[in-house]
Amino acid sequence: MSDLRKLSIREFFSLLGLNFVVQVRNLFELFKVAFKYYSNFEFFKADLSLRLMYLFHNPFSISKRFLIAKGESNIYAYGETPLTTLEKIVKESDITKKDCVYELGCGRGRTCFWLRSFIGCKVVGIEMVPEFVDRAKRITKKLKISNLQFELNDICTTNYDSATVIYLYGTCLEDHTIGILIEKFAQLPIGTKIITVSYPLNDFTNKPNFEIMKCFTGNFAWGETEIYLNVVKKGDSSKIKFFGSD
Ligand SMILES: C[S@@+](CC[C@H](N)C(=O)[O-])C[C@H]1O[C@@H](n2cnc3c(N)ncnc32)[C@H](O)[C@@H]1O
Repeated sequence: MSDLRKLSIREFFSLLGLNFVVQVRNLFELFKVAFKYYSNFEFFKADLSLRLMYLFHNPFSISKRFLIAKGESNIYAYGETPLTTLEKIVKESDITKKDCVYELGCGRGRTCFWLRSFIGCKVVGIEMVPEFVDRAKRITKKLKISNLQFELNDICTTNYDSATVIYLYGTCLEDHTIGILIEKFAQLPIGTKIITVSYPLNDFTNKPNFEIMKCFTGNFAWGETEIYLNVVKKGDSSKIKFFGSD
C-alpha cells in the first residue's frame, strides 16, 4: 500500500491498465490451454493438481515471500511461460522425446509437466524455492510420472552434463549469475541447445562460444519478446570472460 501511495495518478492508471491487459491475456491463455491440452489426461491431472494446490496461495506470493526472506531487492521476479509459447519453443527448437531437458528455475513446474506429457522427453526441473519443489514432487509421485525430476538446487551449482537441451527463462537474473551459467554452458558438449528468453548468451561474453541458430518471438503475460536458440559450438571455456566480470 505504501508503494502505491508513492505513485502519481498517471502511473497508477497505467499500472491498472497493464494489470487489466495481463488478466485478459491470462484468461485467453486459460481457455486455449483447456481446449488444446486437456485431452491429454496425464497433463490434465497434473495441471488440475497444480491449480488446486495453488488455489489459495499463488506462486507469485510464494516466490515474493521467499525473496523477501532472502533479502533480495527485486522481489517481483516470478513469471511463467505460457504453454502455447512453450509449444512454439519446442517446435522451433526441434525438441524430441530423445532429449533430456533441464529447466533452470522451473518455478512450480508447470512447463516440466507439459514437456513430459506432450513431448515424452526426460525432464529435470531445477528450482531454489522449496515449496515449489516439494509440491511438484508430490504431484509427480501421486500421478506416477516417470522420467520427471525436480531438484531443489541453485542453478549456478547444478551439473548439466546429461542435458541435451536447457531452457532458461531468467529475465530477472543478475549479470553475475548469467556469467556463471555461461562458463558452465561453454563446457557442455558441442551441439547442446540452450534456449534463452529475451537475450542471447553471446551478449554477455567476449568469446562467442555459442551459435545463435534461431531467434523467434514468443508471447508472455507481460508482452512479446525474442527467444534465442543458442547452441554450444566449442567446449573450451578457458578464455571466457563475461561482460560484467572483473
Ligand atoms: C521467471 S520464473 C520462470 C518459471 C518457469 N521456468 C517458467 O518458465 O514458467 C524464474 C524461476 O527461477 C527461479 N530461480 C531464480 N534464480 C535461481 C537460482 N539461482 N537457482 C534456482 N532457481 C532460481 C525462481 O525462484 C523462479 O521460480
